[in-house]
Amino acid sequence: MKHLLKLNDFTREEILSVLNLADQLKFERKNGVANECLKGKKLGMIFQKSSTRTRVSFEVGMYELGGYALFLSNRDLQIGRGEPVEDTARVLSRYLDGIMIRTFEQKEVEDLAKYGTIPVINGLTDYCHPCQVLADLMTIRERKGSFKGLKLCFIGDGNNMANSLMVGAVKTGMNFSIACPEGYEPDKELMNLCKENIGFTLCRSAEEAARNADVVYTDVWASMGQEEEREKRMKIFKSYQVNEKVMKAANKGAMVLHCLPAHRGEEITADVFEAHADEIFDEAENRLHAQKAVMCKLMRD
Ligand code: CP
Ligand code: NVA
Repeated sequence: MKHLLKLNDFTREEILSVLNLADQLKFERKNGVANECLKGKKLGMIFQKSSTRTRVSFEVGMYELGGYALFLSNRDLQIGRGEPVEDTARVLSRYLDGIMIRTFEQKEVEDLAKYGTIPVINGLTDYCHPCQVLADLMTIRERKGSFKGLKLCFIGDGNNMANSLMVGAVKTGMNFSIACPEGYEPDKELMNLCKENIGFTLCRSAEEAARNADVVYTDVWASMGQEEEREKRMKIFKSYQVNEKVMKAANKGAMVLHCLPAHRGEEITADVFEAHADEIFDEAENRLHAQKAVMCKLMRD
């Protein structure tokens, strides 16, 4: 385990080991036990897009582990003025012990890892969001006890979240269904990976996808970088909303997860969101524990 560029970089065993460590770190934190396993380590956090959870969980996580995190915004870095990634990677590798990056192109993350000599963690690209899915898996296991026999359903855009959730389902053996409009499907190769390894259905009806689901997941209809398509997307995704009707089709006691930020009245109704707020905010909290576990695994000597 050297980098986390996408969830598929980790084996099933590595993912379970991250989740176990995240559970342990959560338990220790709740009981006031300090764990400074990254004492003196420095993490650079490059943000080319906005963030609340990712930034705060990595920064607080690093502090709690005894290390230091630097917030490096695109507006201030020379990378924002065109300095090549291969140079940025080689420079930062001389100062830091790890880099977390949130950006648009997956290739930029891959290039940082290729040209640098320190671990690189993907904090979201247009292609995937592996850190979020580790927290999601942690939340599912915490509430359901195990992944065995579960069906995870995603309603909405076949975006970065859908891509990483599909890999998460494959790695943990959950079945997966997705409801999305035509032309907004997730990555083809990842759909094939699902078809080859788990029960997988692609539907055009949210209720059909939610049938017998144990976990119902949704995300915004217009992701960061798609602001100009927002109005068009509002019309296209109208019937891909997690609402009461969809929840009735799911299994009794089904969880609802949302990576946040949420748009009430768009991808999820306010009623469903509030009825499942405990799960959703546990999920947000688990970003901290999962991120700490990833940093420990990648950056500890
Ligand atoms: N879910 C998530 O990544 O949140 P932020 O965009 O606030 O980091
Ligand atoms: N799909 C969303 C996820 C935000 C955490 C986006 O990329 O904006």
